[in-house]
Amino acid sequence: MLTPPILHTGRLILRPFNLEDASDVQRLAGERDIAANTAVIPHPYEDGIAEEWIRSHKISCENGTALNLAITLKDNHDSQETILIGAISISIDLKEKIGELGFWIGKPYWNKGYCTEAAKEVLTYGLNNIKLKSIHAFHFGRNPASGRVLQKIGMQHEDSFPNAIEKWGKKEDLIKYNIQSNVINSWYNIIYDKFLWLQLL
Ligand SMILES: CC(C)(COP(=O)(O)OP(=O)(O)OC[C@H]1O[C@@H](n2cnc3c(N)ncnc32)[C@H](O)[C@@H]1OP(=O)(O)O)[C@@H](O)C(=O)NCCC(=O)NCCS
Repeated sequence: MLTPPILHTGRLILRPFNLEDASDVQRLAGERDIAANTAVIPHPYEDGIAEEWIRSHKISCENGTALNLAITLKDNHDSQETILIGAISISIDLKEKIGELGFWIGKPYWNKGYCTEAAKEVLTYGLNNIKLKSIHAFHFGRNPASGRVLQKIGMQHEDSFPNAIEKWGKKEDLIKYNIQSNVINSWYNIIYDKFLWLQLL
């Protein structure tokens, strides 16, 4: 059983989806360039798909197999409402304690660092709170922006799989990135040690 958290970063709130998000999900995930770069998002994004997907989150949380969070912008001109800009998930192999990270950001919000900001937070949550041993992610070879996000959050390139998957009638290369929990914990230890040293000076 997973309890979906509400996570805050400098500019974002990551929170569970609710059915009121469905029309925004359909509009943003419905862009061809989102589906084109992911393995599972359908195109066209028909009516009802977003609702069905959002309803499925409760079940995957209950059986502990996935955590899906809405990526929302905090700053909405003083309004209490947040703006939905994307989605981020960790799918979990319960037996092995391994996670797989997935994400998309709506096109109007690309290249502003939002995905990196969200992914850093979710990665840390997955390793420290869900206690996953490692988290990996795949991206298509022709999608360097996704690879760049994975590098920026500290993942290491692990493997490349040429022609591993068929997407819209074309074979695609898959690139795999990974991070182990002991890596992130050793970063914390280094930062903590530096902090202690600074206090002693
Ligand atoms: C991949 C995606 C999530 C990135 O979101 P984002 O919020 O724009 O990401 P960020 O702004 O945090 O970082 C993007 C990085 O990629 C770089 N980038 C963008 N286009 C690039 C390209 N064509 N080649 C190389 N790097 C590129 C940006 O410059 C930036 O790196 P930098 O900070 O070093 O300059 C977004 O493009 C997306 O949703 N794409 C479609 C769905 C998808 O690909 N999902 C991932 C499936 S694995």
